[in-house]
Amino acid sequence: RVLCSFSRRLSQMNAKPKTRAQKLRDLINKYRYQYHVLNKLEISESALDSLKHELKKLEDKHPELITPDSPTQRVEGKALSRFRKVEHKVPMLSLEDAFSEEDIHAWEGRLKKILPRGMFEYFGEVKFDGLALSLVYERGVLVRGATRGNGQVGEDITPNIKTIESIPLRLEAAAFLTTNPRIEVRGEAIISKKSLLAITREQKKTGQKIYANSRNLAAGSLRQLDPKLVAKRNIEFFAYDLVTDKDIVRHSEEHEILHGLFFKTDPYAAVCKNLEDVFKFYKKVSDVRERFAYEIDGLVVALNKNDLHARAGVVGKAPRGSIAYKFAP
Ligand code: IVH
Repeated sequence: RVLCSFSRRLSQMNAKPKTRAQKLRDLINKYRYQYHVLNKLEISESALDSLKHELKKLEDKHPELITPDSPTQRVEGKALSRFRKVEHKVPMLSLEDAFSEEDIHAWEGRLKKILPRGMFEYFGEVKFDGLALSLVYERGVLVRGATRGNGQVGEDITPNIKTIESIPLRLEAAAFLTTNPRIEVRGEAIISKKSLLAITREQKKTGQKIYANSRNLAAGSLRQLDPKLVAKRNIEFFAYDLVTDKDIVRHSEEHEILHGLFFKTDPYAAVCKNLEDVFKFYKKVSDVRERFAYEIDGLVVALNKNDLHARAGVVGKAPRGSIAYKFAP
């Protein structure tokens, strides 16, 4: 065994810098996924740090080896002076609220009038209390990350978004990407209850601004101009929407694809065959919500068939086919 490990070390030392850099990037990415998406790291944090350190040293020595998706590029050097405005190709809408079973029945009633022959099936997921983000990937590489803004125009905060470790900088080559070279992933940036407490304690100590809740903290953190400060805020990202040129039949499939592309998705999300299932789902989540590591303020319930969802249309700035089913405050 000693000989084996000696010869492995030797071959690592002799590996061409380019090969070794690629190997390190792959390893770091694998462990990043385990740690920040699955919450179960197979090696120690210090072992992961030492891999990052080795890659940094190698790239310092051979800057030509740096790739835009290298883990070392998560926190880029300089602070910005302002954020650029960017237009969303597909507007980022908002949701109408429902507070009771009656409200949900009334919503279904409205849908049935518009879609009398529709076969309804719903998709329920938790409603994260954070900040909506749009991530654009071209040929698998993260090229732009933006806030929702007013729904039509948001702010380009790409360097800040790259600091979020649960967001992949490059998507694994999946068959899905060959037919969809440009995809947009939407989801929510959140800060856990634990991090909110820790950051608040720290901010109090240093006499800095205190944020009232995790949503304000997530929003305030991502609007800082220096990515180095953003990186310290432990921001997480849950993906809930996939925008592509090709039609995807069900919203539940979007969740499956996003999970398969190694995004963090809502582990509770479920298909609900009818409103009875929706009410059961609501009860199940509201019973355990206090134990969640992060703040949620209700469910998002949507028609699962995307064609029906589109046909239901939009009222004001909200799609008729989705609704926010709020918990009692
Ligand atoms: S779906 C039509 N799914 O809720 C736009 N939104 O009140 C809804 N949100 O701006 C997108 N969790 O920031 C969706 N699982 C979830 C969500 C979610 C939180 C937020 C999102 C949106 C707001 C609408």
